[in-house]
Amino acid sequence: METKRFDILSGDYESAVKEASAILIADGIVALPTETVYGLAASAYSDGAIKKVFTAKGRPQDNPLIVHISNMDMLKVVAKDIPECAYKCAEKFWPGPLTMVLKKTDKVAKSVSAGLDTVAVRMPYEKSIRDIIDCSGLPLAAPSANISGAPSPTTYKHCLKDLDGKIDAIVMGNDCEVGVESTVVALFGSKPRLLRPGAVTLEELKTVLPDIEVDKAILKEPEKDAKVASPGMKYKHYAPKTDAFLVEGDSENYAKFVNEKENALALCFNEDLPLITVKALAYGTKADEKTLAKNVFAALRNVDSFGVSEVYIHAPSKSGVGLAVYNRLIRAAAFRVIEL
Ligand code: TXA
Ligand code: MG
Repeated sequence: METKRFDILSGDYESAVKEASAILIADGIVALPTETVYGLAASAYSDGAIKKVFTAKGRPQDNPLIVHISNMDMLKVVAKDIPECAYKCAEKFWPGPLTMVLKKTDKVAKSVSAGLDTVAVRMPYEKSIRDIIDCSGLPLAAPSANISGAPSPTTYKHCLKDLDGKIDAIVMGNDCEVGVESTVVALFGSKPRLLRPGAVTLEELKTVLPDIEVDKAILKEPEKDAKVASPGMKYKHYAPKTDAFLVEGDSENYAKFVNEKENALALCFNEDLPLITVKALAYGTKADEKTLAKNVFAALRNVDSFGVSEVYIHAPSKSGVGLAVYNRLIRAAAFRVIEL
């Protein structure tokens, strides 16, 4: 199929919003920007549209999608038995990169939640997706707009590389400000649980959810066949074709280690660069976790172009947004961590 292009940077914004909405109302699928990563959107009411999303991405059927809304009335259409703490989180963190898992209503198509009785909901900050939700009147189910397993897309070019010809349209907007997917927190059980770290940090969540627990799948490889709270956590993710390893240590030890490797790439911090003698690609300074988050997926997409057999990634800290970056990188490295 031909993928229609709506350029909202230099083209007509209003008509892009209208045309993208019409495609979604007609059960089509559209890649569009959000502040975290680009999403591949479909009507959350339509099993037929959702099926197209799973097919285009090659996504495993048991991995549920996030539903995007633009206002609090819509929250009540898609979720029920909403606890008080969810309203507190919404007040503090919405619109923004926080997803809450709540009890689902029957309005939401079954395939959105892959058969679970819960639904993941987020109100994004990015204006264009909010305008498209308002214009179409639809809550939009949208996973990241990449081929399943590949690094998430933070520019429209990444989406086109993965999905051109497989989707009805793309809204071409700015590069994503945050760069890693939203924080996911489960709020339907007895205690709140962090399922995926993101730009809304654990430290920030604790101010509203003091008893929040952290799912162990965030930093550990789930045991084979184990039931995981967030199905997405069990799949191999974000990996370049090049063999990837995560390396923990200070700049000097990291450089010493990686410089002894033949045919390797150092995916490192800016401050490591002067010490590195093999091929190198920096993704920000260690102290600036927001920039690391913004650059990490584009860097992972770049790795294979260096023509090396292995990439050694200098591990970020696990605090603040660093935890989200670490969570993505440990998956890219298939949980192979080298501690120096
Ligand atoms: O920032 C984001 O969240 C982006 C943009 C497009 O909004 N979307 C995104 O979607 O990252 P996706 O499909 O790549 O990740 C959704 C994650 C998966 O890990 C999935 O398992 C989890 O959310 N999830 C969705 N519904 C769930 C549910 N009912 N219970 C537990 N986890 C759920
Ligand atoms: Mg994804």
